[in-house]
Amino acid sequence: TKFNVLIIIGSLREKSYNAAIARQLADLAPDNLELVYAPSIGTLPHYNQDVENAGFPKEVQAFADAIRAADGLIFVTPEYNYSVPGVLKNAIDWVSRLRPMPFDNKVGSIISASGGAIGGARMQHHLRQVMVAMNVHLVNRPEIMVGTVQNKADGDGGKLTDETTLTFIGNHLKELARVLELHHQKQQA
Ligand code: FNR
Repeated sequence: TKFNVLIIIGSLREKSYNAAIARQLADLAPDNLELVYAPSIGTLPHYNQDVENAGFPKEVQAFADAIRAADGLIFVTPEYNYSVPGVLKNAIDWVSRLRPMPFDNKVGSIISASGGAIGGARMQHHLRQVMVAMNVHLVNRPEIMVGTVQNKADGDGGKLTDETTLTFIGNHLKELARVLELHHQKQQA
């Protein structure tokens, strides 16, 4: 079965390592994963319930539509101060307000890269907790936490060149495909 997988990038930086990894995923993914890229979460306004009550902004609707259209999701994001970057949490908070919930019952995974040694591990646990609220089923392993990414890429914001990391990411994507298939079969049953 073919699956559409939406890539959501948690950094707005032009030379983002995470955005670079996100672009590289297409080379590493199994053939049955069709990767699509979410519109930039930087276009979403700050969440405000008054704005919501006046009507969901079109940028929020577009982002939510992309999530609805996807079978699976991959968050590719840095860690900010041991947690989820505010801009990503903001996007999730917006989407969480729509009914039916766009994230409901999706399969997902998290990839993170950072300058620090543990590659965003603390952020991943926070994002996992938030995804429980969204009822997203996240792949558990292999975990992809790319530490000291500046030493594993081709210059600032460049492609990953570290072979071990690339192999791990390939295995992660295979596991995502396997979980998507299992989930798909369960929905058919
Ligand atoms: C960081 N960075 C960082 N790194 C880390 O490993 N743990 C952390 O808690 C933080 N905290 C943090 C906060 C803020 C506000 C910034 C701007 C940065 C460093 C971060 O990993 C590094 O800047 C990455 O390069 C950011 O990812 P992108 O933008 O390259 O994808």
